[in-house]
Amino acid sequence: MTNCLIIKKKIINFNKKIKVSGDKSLSIRWVLLASQADGISKAYNLLMSEDVLAAMDAIKKLGIKVNISKNYCEIFGNGINGFKFKKNLTINAKNSGTLARLLLGLLIKSPQKIKLTGDKSLSKRDFSRVALPLQQFGAKFYYKIKNKLPLSILGSQSTKGIKYLENKGSAQCKSSVMLAALNSSGTTSIKAKKSRNHSELLFKYLKIPIKIKKTKEYDFIDIKKPKKIKAFNYQIPGDISSSAFFMVLTTLSKNSRLLIKNVNINPSRTGVIIILKKMGAKIFLKNQRNYRGEKIADILIKSSNNLKAINCPSKLNSSAIDEFLVIFLVAAKAKGISYFKDISELNQKESPRLNWGSKILNMMGVKTKLTKDSIKIYGEPNLEITKPIIIKNYLKDHRVFMMSTIAALTCGGQWKIHDKDSINSSFPSFLKIVKKINNKSL
Ligand code: S3P
Repeated sequence: MTNCLIIKKKIINFNKKIKVSGDKSLSIRWVLLASQADGISKAYNLLMSEDVLAAMDAIKKLGIKVNISKNYCEIFGNGINGFKFKKNLTINAKNSGTLARLLLGLLIKSPQKIKLTGDKSLSKRDFSRVALPLQQFGAKFYYKIKNKLPLSILGSQSTKGIKYLENKGSAQCKSSVMLAALNSSGTTSIKAKKSRNHSELLFKYLKIPIKIKKTKEYDFIDIKKPKKIKAFNYQIPGDISSSAFFMVLTTLSKNSRLLIKNVNINPSRTGVIIILKKMGAKIFLKNQRNYRGEKIADILIKSSNNLKAINCPSKLNSSAIDEFLVIFLVAAKAKGISYFKDISELNQKESPRLNWGSKILNMMGVKTKLTKDSIKIYGEPNLEITKPIIIKNYLKDHRVFMMSTIAALTCGGQWKIHDKDSINSSFPSFLKIVKKINNKSL
């Protein structure tokens, strides 16, 4: 089977109802927190992607039993710091920055050195951003190449709560420190720039002692070590980041309509909806409800033929951090020049995504002005690609693959997109859903 996707035709009008798979951030957090609970926790609609399977493999290596059935997954938690730390243990986080960084937070008491590895993309990413605060707790880090994987972590038996300033708006850094706080005496106080707050909501739901004070830009979070965490069942809602590709597919297609059922619309994740609506997209939230502190809704999207450029406010960056690539596609088809600023973090993802976004738009014939932390996109409302486009060597960044697929289906041209298997890290059913929307043809 070839690992390339060829697309030569635009998608035809559609009117469909779909479900996307479970939220990746919540799936990984559930696996890690269930491993620290006392007893059997069950998750339904857990994302079965490589990132989440790597999380399950990681806790299995640390002595936790995992049972995957057809409709649910069970984790037999062994309590806080209940991992079995064997000698010479190597854990492979594969492509997942979230798994690697959050797991390190749970390893700060390991009496043995544990080696953490990852794939080519993860091995290029910066680990000092979590190593620095975790060292403050008392953990030690050993590298071959400074701040990069593979690394080894050696814990300490006398971990104490720390004061930590999280200034990047990174939920991975914040959550890594929050998980380390579960294993430390005293109080851990975090001042964190706004970022997704799934860890905080789960801590509250699990009755872990947590206090949160919110200001406009920062959250002040105090955490104390709980006596124990009770096993818990969880129904994982659909992933808004996966949904975003279909929001854009519908927005850019003619006379089409799509209903995406049961999506997590936590306000710390809905930047994409706010930005697209400001640009003229027709997106409606239906049937809104709450689930354990998270907000859930069905999302209805209709085609839009009147898209306008945006000067995107930086305050929306963190809540749209994984969606910029598809947002750039909408900017490419909007009237006017769009401007996105203070987004250097995009180049710290699975690939240098800001650079890739610009490169792909240029290949499509759309002009951009790129700096280290911003991009201007010169929209072409009548854009029709007629030439061949080849996308390859992008470090298998799943979101680059999916953005390219949506571009091909909405802007024309003859596309050859390499490394189809990249979608397995976050959204293995992506192409099946595209086929369903496109009446089985692709
Ligand atoms: C995530 C946080 C974000 C995001 C990633 C998932 C999480 O990363 O890009 O896909 O689940 O905490 P940063 O914390 O590095 O911004």
